[in-house]
Amino acid sequence: MNQESPSFQGGECQEAIEYDYERSFGKADPVHALRSIAFDSEIIAFMKKHPSGVVVNLGEGLETQRFRLADLQTTWYTIDLPESIRPREHFISPGDRWKHITCSALDYAWMDQIPTDRPVCITAQGLFMYFQESEVRDLLKTLAERHPILTIIFDVIPNWVAQKTLSPDGWKKVSIQLSAISYQHSAISYQLSAYALSARYFTKSF
Ligand SMILES: C[S@@+](CC[C@H](N)C(=O)[O-])C[C@H]1O[C@@H](n2cnc3c(N)ncnc32)[C@H](O)[C@@H]1O
Repeated sequence: MNQESPSFQGGECQEAIEYDYERSFGKADPVHALRSIAFDSEIIAFMKKHPSGVVVNLGEGLETQRFRLADLQTTWYTIDLPESIRPREHFISPGDRWKHITCSALDYAWMDQIPTDRPVCITAQGLFMYFQESEVRDLLKTLAERHPILTIIFDVIPNWVAQKTLSPDGWKKVSIQLSAISYQHSAISYQLSAYALSARYFTKSF
């Protein structure tokens, strides 16, 4: 496989894996596409403002965002656990501009590989909600101390959804069309209410 030209892009990864997604997770939800558009546009805005910046994607899994944003002349770092980097590399090769770092986001050793003399954009989709609040706070604080020009983009889950996942029965996805749907959402620890989110947004005091 050519180092700079991976063989799978976008939906091709999904199609290449023989798995009945709909049976487990129900029909594809357009909200995921909207989330991708929102993250893409923030990264594009960051790169327009900071053309020498780098992008770090925490918990990237099988995301293919880097192909959608391939025109951006940036170095792109993927940080993920070994059990996710292995399948990622089955489909998506690292390269000179696309670096894979096998490391937990909570083991700050990965930070030593990220330049501190260039603006940095950290993106984390579908990750922080599985961490403890103290872990998220410490991670954000450590990054802010290391990088003078830093943008961090991440998604948060509202309290009412998180509480459902933490209830004794958990939160199961049910489908009218598929009675045998089997997906139970993982427990979500890090959550924010709309009130806390707006207050913290305006005070920037995560
Ligand atoms: C719900 S998936 C989201 C994947 C991808 N970001 C997306 O939105 O499609 C969570 C991802 O975070 C990774 N992950 C979980 N714990 C992690 C940690 N401590 N450090 C880095 N990655 C982690 C998982 O391996 C997985 O790839």
